[in-house]
Amino acid sequence: MNFKDKVVYQVYPKSFQDSNGDGWGDIKGIISRLDYLKDLGIDVIWFNPMCISPQRDNGYDVADYRQIDPRYGTNEDFLELSKACKERNILIMFDMVFNHTSTEHEWFKKALAGDKKYKDYYIWRKGKNGSYPTNWQSKFGGPAWEYVPELDEYYLHLFDKTQADLNWDNPEVRKECADIVNYWISKGVYCFRFDVVNLISKYTVDEDDPNNFDGRQFYTDGPRVHEYLKELNADSFGNVESITVGEMSSTTLENCAKYANEDGKELSMVFTFHHLKVDYKNMKKWELQPVDFMQFKKLMNTWQTGMEEKGAWPSLFLNNHDQPRALSRFGDDKNYPKESAKMLAAFTHLMRGTPYIYQGEEIGMTNAYFTNISQYKDVESTNIFKLLKEEGKSEEEIYHILQERSRDNSRTPMQWDDSANAGFTDGEPWLQVQENYRNVNAANALKDEDSIYYWYKKLIGLRKGYKVVQEGKYVPLFEEDDQVLAFERKLDKESLVVICNFYGKEKKIVFNAKGYEILLSNYKDSNIVDLRPYETIILYKKD
Ligand code: GLC
Repeated sequence: MNFKDKVVYQVYPKSFQDSNGDGWGDIKGIISRLDYLKDLGIDVIWFNPMCISPQRDNGYDVADYRQIDPRYGTNEDFLELSKACKERNILIMFDMVFNHTSTEHEWFKKALAGDKKYKDYYIWRKGKNGSYPTNWQSKFGGPAWEYVPELDEYYLHLFDKTQADLNWDNPEVRKECADIVNYWISKGVYCFRFDVVNLISKYTVDEDDPNNFDGRQFYTDGPRVHEYLKELNADSFGNVESITVGEMSSTTLENCAKYANEDGKELSMVFTFHHLKVDYKNMKKWELQPVDFMQFKKLMNTWQTGMEEKGAWPSLFLNNHDQPRALSRFGDDKNYPKESAKMLAAFTHLMRGTPYIYQGEEIGMTNAYFTNISQYKDVESTNIFKLLKEEGKSEEEIYHILQERSRDNSRTPMQWDDSANAGFTDGEPWLQVQENYRNVNAANALKDEDSIYYWYKKLIGLRKGYKVVQEGKYVPLFEEDDQVLAFERKLDKESLVVICNFYGKEKKIVFNAKGYEILLSNYKDSNIVDLRPYETIILYKKD
């Protein structure tokens, strides 16, 4: 299916819209908001996992891949959602978590009970010298192995200890996964996101990480991952008109050129994260440094041109449910919220690739800035809080870090209006609403024709109206400039130029704009010479 003309919107179901007052978003709530999304102009909705789960990692710990979790509704409700989306010409993208299952999954329970067939669905090792099989750390902190006394063995979990890694070298596991995809295809789902899918094939699980780190070199982009993805493609979504995206953790351009090659043998596109680590000190998520803009720009340019040269297709995003809000991170959510949100959106939507909008970014939602650990709900944040405390950091310092980095920052409930709990729920929300909801909300955005919301609508309109946005070649401009990120998209006689001032200060530029018209700008009367704080200008010409 063509995806170059499409825009994806990500719904975090738990925080989108509650319909029954239990403080959790649900499917009926989502249905009641579909017209809002239709008006925005999006084509696909990616839903974070809604299947049965103990919710230790908010649904990324799946206990039954074929049943909707009752907290979200029923399978019948899902069919209703599917019908309502179809009526609006919106596609549904499901999130398939296949690197691991919850330890509550029946496969794992059978494994624990000693059933050999199911034990081999997971990755087990004996301890070494009375300790863990290797020194690997889980991505959420702590060891990546959990001991099971009854079996006198450890199982591998790259994430939380309730997320046991599946053994993809077992053909039965691969078949189960293809069957699950086919099940959802039979229910009318044609788009899939595959969670951390470049971790499914491990080189080895028996070697210590020489750098005393998490062991990622032994399981990232592993030896058989391309083979497994080709097989999954051939056995499931490759047989229908589909759109797929793989979440690729710490990957390389060479591998992504294969994962997302336009030959269609693996996936339609990839999510990569190098550009979202430019404020990690020493590449460590919990060590802060200001955004390294030159590194950011270099990464964008390298990946944009590299993927194009290799005939592969990227996803475009700065936000998702695992990232702090881009407006708070790359923009200025206090002094220039509107200007910087619009600039960041122009930059994201007009590069080569498929743009993803994370719920709330289209109205300028910001980080949560919680000040007490009781407000944080994410397992990663609560683990890290403990670990950083053990390391001797002060609470003040830890809160500062969490305010910048916690995944809860982006998970606060969608801000619909200025009524109690931002119109998200009549009950007690599972995660506190960000206090700025009285101003920052969808109802206000819809009333203001200059709002961030309408800017997104215009950007989506550009994608639909201009082939150069969909297919144009990417050419970096102003490569050495330490304040401006700019690029040209070129297709036959068309040229689109996007200029973004990434800082809250003015800047003079030299650009020969002869023959260009201004399609959009986030300030009135741009002169294409004096850029104002966070100014962005989109220019177009056709010879
Ligand atoms: C992905 C998900 C994240 C989850 C992790 C483990 O990174 O986006 O939310 O915690 O995988 O499934």
